[in-house]
Amino acid sequence: MTLTKHSWDDYYKAVTRRPHDPMTEIAIAKNRSGSNVAVDAGCGAGTEAEFLAKVGYDVYAFDPEDGAIELCRRRFLANKNVKVFRDSFETFTYPKNGLFIAKSSLFFCDPKQFERVWSSIEQSIEPGGVFFGQLLGGDDSWQNTHVRHISKFSKQQALAKLSAFDLLEFKEVHQDGKTAVGTEKFWHVFTFLAIKR
Ligand SMILES: C[S@@+](CC[C@H](N)C(=O)[O-])C[C@H]1O[C@@H](n2cnc3c(N)ncnc32)[C@H](O)[C@@H]1O
Repeated sequence: MTLTKHSWDDYYKAVTRRPHDPMTEIAIAKNRSGSNVAVDAGCGAGTEAEFLAKVGYDVYAFDPEDGAIELCRRRFLANKNVKVFRDSFETFTYPKNGLFIAKSSLFFCDPKQFERVWSSIEQSIEPGGVFFGQLLGGDDSWQNTHVRHISKFSKQQALAKLSAFDLLEFKEVHQDGKTAVGTEKFWHVFTFLAIKR
């Protein structure tokens, strides 16, 4: 299945009122790094960023899409704990952090730059810090027609990437489903919660 020409704006509209992910709360509880800096990478509507700020994190939220940035700038206008950047995985300067969240976003990183990006993310997380992220599996039906890039991995590759971390959770979804805007697709996604050694 190809990624059809839906706009990210439809996605942001669909998810803006969604509550934060329960995994974000677990990630917060497991952060033993001593750092209260968090990164929400490919933040979209900023749902996780808002919750992180609410519980006291100093949040760096970035996304390359104008729609996401406009929405987040409005959402966090009066919230000094969230800094919003129009940026991408490939060019962002990662601050040292105790919590790194990449929810449904690493899928869209340029595969040619993925190793370098991953290494920057890994180095940015302090020992004892937490990485809550998702990677797309090889059987996922998305291909990069509408979006510029799709990065996919086998289970073995995904696990190998996490070798600098202790894994608290690693879940694989491999099933038919729908996107947030209701489009049918085959999902193959690895979701992980990992502590930096
Ligand atoms: C499915 S949305 C997820 C948004 C948010 N993390 C959430 O869970 O609701 C994917 C997001 O990744 C962003 N994105 C696409 N390419 C990206 C890149 N190269 N670097 C960072 N983010 C990217 C999109 O603009 C979009 O907001």
